[in-house]
Amino acid sequence: MRLPLFFLLPCLLAAQDATAPPATYEGRTIAQTMHWQGAGWLIRHKREREEAATRMREELRLKPGMAVCDLGSGNGYHTLPMAEEVGAEGKVYAIDIQPEMLDLLRQRADGRNLENIECIVSTPLDPKIPAGSCDLILLVDVYHEFSHPVEMLAGIRKALKPDGTVVLVEYRAEDESVPIKPEHKMSKAQITRELNLNGFKLVREFDGLPWQHMMFFGRAEP
Ligand SMILES: C[S@@+](CC[C@H](N)C(=O)[O-])C[C@H]1O[C@@H](n2cnc3c(N)ncnc32)[C@H](O)[C@@H]1O
Repeated sequence: MRLPLFFLLPCLLAAQDATAPPATYEGRTIAQTMHWQGAGWLIRHKREREEAATRMREELRLKPGMAVCDLGSGNGYHTLPMAEEVGAEGKVYAIDIQPEMLDLLRQRADGRNLENIECIVSTPLDPKIPAGSCDLILLVDVYHEFSHPVEMLAGIRKALKPDGTVVLVEYRAEDESVPIKPEHKMSKAQITRELNLNGFKLVREFDGLPWQHMMFFGRAEP
C-alpha cells in the first residue's frame, strides 16, 4: 500500500539514531520516537475528523476536579481540552521526553488561562509522574514508541490511584486500511498481552473510533 507523505513525515523525522538496530518487545518492533520538528502534524486540521478526537475524549468521562496525565503529550493536542474539562480544581500532568514538545505545548496554552497544567520532562525509563497521583493516564499514539515499555509501565502503575485507569489509544494493526506505518500500529492482542505481563487488567474498551483502538486498563492485584 502506498502511504501519503504527510503520514510518513513524522515517522521519518525520528528523534533517535535511525542507524541503530530496531529494538523489540514481546515480538513487536518498537517504533522510533516522533521528532518534535514534526509536531505540526499532531495539530493538523483533519485530525478531528480522522481520529474523532472529541468523541475519544468523551469516552474518558473526565469530571471537574480529577487529576489526570497526558503521557507523551507532544504539543498538547489533547492536553488543552483535558485541562478545560477537569477545571481549576483539577490537574493535568503533561509529560514528554522531548522538552521542545512541552515548549510548543506551553506556547499553545498561552493566553488560555489554564493554570492547572504541569509540564514534566520525563526519561525513557521513568515517566516521572508523582506516585499515587492520577485518576487517569492517557497515552494517545505513544505506547508503541516506548523504548523501555516494562520500566514505563511500572512507573505508570505506581502513578495511578488504586482505582485509576490507564487508557491506550493506538492505531489498529488488524486494519490494513489505516494509513499508518506498521510499527506505529498495534493489535488488541499485543496490547493486552504486554499490559497483562506488567500488572494491568483490561476493564473497558471503546471500538467506535475510525482508526484507533481505545483500551482501558486498571491495576491487577499481584
Ligand atoms: C506521536 S506523538 C503523540 C503526541 C500526543 N499524544 C498526541 O496524540 O498528539 C508521541 C509522543 O510521545 C513522546 N514519547 C515517546 N516516548 C516517550 C516516553 N518514554 N515518555 C514520554 N513521552 C514519550 C514523544 O516525544 C512524542 O511527543
